[in-house]
Amino acid sequence: MISLWMNEAFARTGLPIAGSDVASRWDSLYSFLVWMSVFFFVLVIGAMLVFIVKYKDGPGKKSAYITDNHLLEALWTLIPLVLVMVIFVWGWVIYKDQVTAPADAMEVRVVGKQWLWQFQYEDGRVTVGEVYVPAHKPVKFIMSSDDVLHSFFIPAFRVKQDVVPGMYTSIWFEANVEGFHQIFCTEYCGTSHSGMLANLYALGPKDWEDFQAGKKIKLDTLPGVTPAAAGAPPLNLADQGRQTFATKGCTACHSVDGSKMTGPTLKGVFGSKVELVDGKTVTADENYIRESIEMPNATVVKGFTPVMPPYKGLLQEDDLNGLVAYIKSLK
Ligand code: CUA
Repeated sequence: MISLWMNEAFARTGLPIAGSDVASRWDSLYSFLVWMSVFFFVLVIGAMLVFIVKYKDGPGKKSAYITDNHLLEALWTLIPLVLVMVIFVWGWVIYKDQVTAPADAMEVRVVGKQWLWQFQYEDGRVTVGEVYVPAHKPVKFIMSSDDVLHSFFIPAFRVKQDVVPGMYTSIWFEANVEGFHQIFCTEYCGTSHSGMLANLYALGPKDWEDFQAGKKIKLDTLPGVTPAAAGAPPLNLADQGRQTFATKGCTACHSVDGSKMTGPTLKGVFGSKVELVDGKTVTADENYIRESIEMPNATVVKGFTPVMPPYKGLLQEDDLNGLVAYIKSLK
């Protein structure tokens, strides 16, 4: 009840949308802290300003000799004590719910690696850079790292957890806003840390059934997804590839404008002669592009280090075709 009232009263806080129950509960506590601070700021500074004027020194003015005031001392001890205890209990209750996943939560394994997020479902399916979950149902992410420390963050759900090599950590949430939500890596993990993004799609019952049946989800009609291209003609192969390129984490390390990032740029690469670390030269044709995606460490380009994770088994044939067409189009 109190929490509901706080939400209504302090809805406009400038925070990202609250996409889960726990998010609205954290926001209520946050609003409480902000408004309590505003209240005491006005009270203290206001009183100070009044006293400056009222008790200004002047001829004939002499301040009274004050020793102590037990009532005042008791109040300025008790009131802050009550306030900090309210903050503690409020935070503790939400935290307890946030770290205790319901037993019936759907489980998804999350693997962080430089520099992408990989998701592994109970049915064996694997996705990279995007994860599909049912809305309005508890979902638990069991997370581990392939290399260094990462941190998994879904701002809209207000959940964040370190992802540590050699052990499992977990988060859980219940998405109550369907559609797209951004995932970040929020622990500096190397060159392309800022590009270590992923998309979370909270699906309604119909879409979730389709996903479980192995159908491709029409993302452009989901809420929060741009561009809203519902009813538009299907994308051409190169544009499909451009989408795959963006959603599978490729943009973290490869530019398409000629600039050097962690990996080589893909501008003009197709059909060109590529110099490898072992001194050999190969022509970048369809099979070279394919191999460089699926088993990138087989042919490392001169001037680069073999840091790209292999995508073998993570991409469907139609995804690969799109990617090759897209790279071909980057003249
Ligand atoms: Cu992974 Cu930062």
